[in-house]
Amino acid sequence: MDIKIKTESEIEIQTSEESGSDHLCMSRRNFLLTGSSAIVLSTMPGIATAVKLAAKDYPRVKIASLRELQTDQPVDFSYPPNNPISTFFIVKLGEEAGGGIGRKKDIVAFSNLCSHMGGPLNGTYKAAHKAMGPCPLHLTTFDLTRHGMVISGHATEALPQARLEISRGNVYAVGVTGLIYGQHDNLG
Ligand code: FES
Repeated sequence: MDIKIKTESEIEIQTSEESGSDHLCMSRRNFLLTGSSAIVLSTMPGIATAVKLAAKDYPRVKIASLRELQTDQPVDFSYPPNNPISTFFIVKLGEEAGGGIGRKKDIVAFSNLCSHMGGPLNGTYKAAHKAMGPCPLHLTTFDLTRHGMVISGHATEALPQARLEISRGNVYAVGVTGLIYGQHDNLG
């Protein structure tokens, strides 16, 4: 297995507090591994866990109401505003996730465009593994509990994650962490 270490220079993601779930995540990862793999350093238990990614604020947009979200039922939405080709999905995972909001910190949102070459990930959610994929183009699968990190496949970048807020029972997108495929300047 090839292990690629990423040292990008932008937002810090504190994953040390997630170390208690490493064993569970590795089990899921091992199940999904198929041939060549790209795993960033922070997915390896017992190794330093700070990862830096790019982030940008976008206009605050209401994307769902908490009452409408059903566990393991992704809902697509357009984001950022005024970008006709970029869609995201929001999903209530039913278990705590990195960047998650809500009472259980289990509501997350990610791009539907694969970070490798923009393959459409719509409809590939795997509830049993809280993962997105495999991508129909080159089979990358992403871990939605760990900021969209690559589990297996050709992609080397995590799936861009929308930053979310809750207000008066509604969920708002306020920005994106990671480079949306096909865009050059969402790094801020
Ligand atoms: S476009 Fe998704 S793995 Fe290549």
